[in-house]
Amino acid sequence: MSRKWHAISKACANIALAKYWGKADVPLNLPAVPSISMTLDGLVTETKLRVDPSLDEDHVELDGRVATAAEAKRVVALLEDIRGRARRKEHAVVISRNRFPTAAGLASSASGFAALAAAADRGYELGASERVLSAIARQASASAARSIYGGFVELPAGKPGKKTLAAKPLFGQDHWDLRIVVAQAAKGPKKVGSTEGMERSRRTSPFYDAWVEKAPAITRTIRTALKKKDLDTLGAAMEQSTMAFHSCAMTASPGILYWQPATMAALHTVRRLRDERGISVWATMDAGPHVKALCHAADARKVRRALRETPGVLETLVAAPGPGVTVR
Ligand code: DP6
Repeated sequence: MSRKWHAISKACANIALAKYWGKADVPLNLPAVPSISMTLDGLVTETKLRVDPSLDEDHVELDGRVATAAEAKRVVALLEDIRGRARRKEHAVVISRNRFPTAAGLASSASGFAALAAAADRGYELGASERVLSAIARQASASAARSIYGGFVELPAGKPGKKTLAAKPLFGQDHWDLRIVVAQAAKGPKKVGSTEGMERSRRTSPFYDAWVEKAPAITRTIRTALKKKDLDTLGAAMEQSTMAFHSCAMTASPGILYWQPATMAALHTVRRLRDERGISVWATMDAGPHVKALCHAADARKVRRALRETPGVLETLVAAPGPGVTVR
């Protein structure tokens, strides 16, 4: 197609070190707990946008196919937000592609909505600050608020009604040369999406209130350890954050079990690398079966080899701290 794009943006996925799980305000999509993430280099969503006055509705394509009604609804809601702020009415063509290695098995909503917010901001000539873009992306998917920024990023907990909640950058991409080694533990999409998983946890898990009460202290430990570059302290708190939110999911009703046999095997590989080989490597997981191991750059090859040899692990990849969103 030769017609000109008004914006082409790129945003990277991120992995939470301190996990977001649970909402303080569902309509405004405000998290009940603070979270801290590392933006992941190379796991990129690229989004092209053209404002087209001849259209009667927005046209959205994701990874080479027309978006489903549910997907389009979230995209259009974000576009409506930007149009309202920019006092514009025209519809848009949005074409978004995940340039993720197949091994990623990672959710793309964080990079997707961060890239969309930046592309729409440029396309509709809004000129919002990164902070405002982060708040806009957060309404679509809270983890997307963090992908606006590179390096290490915090999204504070929300208070009901606080519409403007945004993420804030803590440390830049060059702060600390860490790696995330992703071990893909199953193929295909997860069975219970994070939005549904966290709502079910909030409504029905007997552990949910304890999680919400404890999460701020875990996040503080992680923030301080990041500052001091103390991987052992950070890693232990990160594992606790992951295990705590998965415990909420497992003890919801009906229970949500994201783990597969390869998940457990990979978790034991990480522990063995620590206990038997003295490597500072720590595991985290999202709302799915894959294990993501955090380690120093110098240990990434050893960690990757061990995870690759773990029974049931399909593929692995390594990601460094990545940049924030860009648009041209
Ligand atoms: C487990 O940001 O996908 O990955 O705000 O409902 O779209 P919504 O949820 P989402 O949740 C991510 C949850 C997580 C942990 C994290 O990334 O902090």
